[in-house]
Amino acid sequence: VSKEHRSTIFLEDARILAHTAHPGGQQVLRIEAPKLAARAVPGSFAHLRCNDRLPMRRPMSVMRVDPHEGWAEFLYKTVGEGTRALAARREGETLSVLGPIGRGFRADPARPRALLLGGGVGIPPMVFLAERLRAMPQQRPLVVMGSEVPFPFTVRPSEILVPGIPAGVIACMPLMDDWGIPSRLASLQGYAGCHDGYVTDLAGAWLESLAPAARDEVTMYTCGPTPMLRAAAALAAAYGLPCQVCMEEFMACAVGGCAGCALRLNENGEEAMRRVCVDGPVFDAAQVMWDALPD
Ligand SMILES: Cc1cc2nc3c(=O)[nH]c(=O)nc-3n(C[C@H](O)[C@H](O)[C@H](O)COP(=O)(O)OP(=O)(O)OC[C@H]3O[C@@H](n4cnc5c(N)ncnc54)[C@H](O)[C@@H]3O)c2cc1C
Ligand code: FES
Repeated sequence: VSKEHRSTIFLEDARILAHTAHPGGQQVLRIEAPKLAARAVPGSFAHLRCNDRLPMRRPMSVMRVDPHEGWAEFLYKTVGEGTRALAARREGETLSVLGPIGRGFRADPARPRALLLGGGVGIPPMVFLAERLRAMPQQRPLVVMGSEVPFPFTVRPSEILVPGIPAGVIACMPLMDDWGIPSRLASLQGYAGCHDGYVTDLAGAWLESLAPAARDEVTMYTCGPTPMLRAAAALAAAYGLPCQVCMEEFMACAVGGCAGCALRLNENGEEAMRRVCVDGPVFDAAQVMWDALPD
């Protein structure tokens, strides 16, 4: 562990409290990890040992925590050996967890209209961020989420009106409605009440509907697949908005020691290599060299 992070990343043997399968190979995992729960911030991730036969841990964003009850929750998709091994783990078993890792999102008090965009397994950090923004009275978040497999929650029509969102786009994440935070959903799969298109199209329609003074109060926060992040960065640039992106990169150590997760940034005209694990995973979208990134 690099020196600057040594005192803030913990190793815990976490008991699995709940592990629920959802359509499309999605899993929601809740673990008892009081140190992680106490220190994680939106954008933080944990490095999980999927089982004892796989020495390489897998990084997963934290979706929710309860610092008082000492639990943390994740949403992940099974895509390969590690996540399949993780999905086989059962309630009551113990999981080795390293975390929280990384620099998270920073709320901008000068720009209280927070536009959160989450796509697929990029949804978890947005849920976490929405919950934290909820505790900041001046912040007015709008959450837009996209998925091409059924959403891992029961979708229902929102009770919160959002001016500027096309009529008929009414589906929400119920948890957000319960928190009093407006949310809307997008998909190319024709799900009822969802925007038929990309999250960035829906976000663009909403931005276009705002008066210039209102638009000047917007900051974008986003996490999802690279093509979505690239589109979000372009949307932010088109409207001159600040945009923070949560990046994913293949990771070995995840604690700053191997440089395996290097990302090319343009910092004030100078090219710089930064480690996604500890310098990120949240970066300024305007600094990311999008053309150099594979999809
Ligand atoms: C900081 C961070 C946060 C993450 N948060 C989440 C999350 O909240 N939920 C979630 O489902 N996934 C998340 N991921 C991705 C997750 O770590 C990978 O899906 C997982 O490591 C795959 O392991 P595997 O052994 O199952 O698959 P592998 O057999 O290693 O790979 C299966 C497929 O997934 C691709 N893949 C593997 N790792 C990554 C990666 N890091 N980025 C992009 N593609 C990858 C491979 O190219 C391959 O196509 C995150 C990754 C990072 C770096
Ligand atoms: S994964 Fe080793 S430095 Fe980031």
